[in-house]
Amino acid sequence: PEFKSEGQFEIIDGTCFSKDMTNVEAVRGMKTYDKMRDDDVIISSYPRSGTHWSIALVDLVMHGGDIETVKERHIHERSIWMDVPMTVFRGETDLSMKAIEETPNPMIVAESAPSPRLLSTHLPYNFMPESVKQGKCKVVAILRNPKSVLVSNHLLHAVPELFDVVPTLDNSIDAMLADTQDQMVYGSWYNHVSRWWLNRDKANIHCILYEDMKMNMGDVIKGLARFLNKSIPNERIEKMAEHLQFDKMLKNPKTGKAFEKLQVDSLEATGQDLDALKTSHMRKGTIDDWKTKLTVAQNERIDAHLGPKLKNIGLKFPSI
Ligand code: A3P
Repeated sequence: PEFKSEGQFEIIDGTCFSKDMTNVEAVRGMKTYDKMRDDDVIISSYPRSGTHWSIALVDLVMHGGDIETVKERHIHERSIWMDVPMTVFRGETDLSMKAIEETPNPMIVAESAPSPRLLSTHLPYNFMPESVKQGKCKVVAILRNPKSVLVSNHLLHAVPELFDVVPTLDNSIDAMLADTQDQMVYGSWYNHVSRWWLNRDKANIHCILYEDMKMNMGDVIKGLARFLNKSIPNERIEKMAEHLQFDKMLKNPKTGKAFEKLQVDSLEATGQDLDALKTSHMRKGTIDDWKTKLTVAQNERIDAHLGPKLKNIGLKFPSI
């Protein structure tokens, strides 16, 4: 379906980027960017995979699990986006092509931030700076089951402000299952997760499944602490897991209200109950809400397409 604003997308190396969110200059220069720091930690995820949740998680682990130190900082101050201007998150830059074009390259802006930096991005593996692919920095890749990602993405983006004709769930499934990287912003879901997953044995890459965060946060915290060389007293782990629970994060204004304005605008414009969307980055926060949204036929279509591919690379999601 056609987006309302013409020329909104730019295809870079075959992959689609939305110019009303992403500073494309940063993306174009990312592979050759040579000022990454050894102690940088990068979170990479496909959109709607629990990025904000993992920012809270990784930031907390980087601070040794000390909740008091982190909890007063707004979620958008806990990490620096590599390709989206931080002024967007602070509400100082509109989500419009013109406004984004006028922002400075976020990677250059990030150079004035103190170390250690927590950076986040939806960029796929192949867009990472060459030094990162060679082992510099640490990358935490967040992977979430494709059906949850699809439903979450569809409910957020299939709205009349963006489209002349609002896409149906089937349209969104078509886009998600396309084998090319030009149908979805940041490329296809499969391309994103499979590349991180296939590189998971590299010493500087650590993959975490959203579903494991949901079902076994304690072990996720321990694994992440080992990866980041942080020692966290055992008695802190349970409190950390509790602090990161959906309801706790939603109630905390520093983590729960990050995109409230966007959300309210979108609800008003559609006049629909978008599944009681709470904030755009915190909707339901479950591993199997997709079961209430996909028909049997849609579910089978996704399984038929992605099932063999995922099996082939040995990637299994508990909730699929
Ligand atoms: P749902 O739409 O399925 O609820 P991102 O930050 O990458 O945009 O991801 C958003 C998704 O992560 C949303 O999924 C959101 O509810 C979920 N999420 C955010 N915080 C969470 C938390 N503390 N626990 C579980 N899920 C969370």
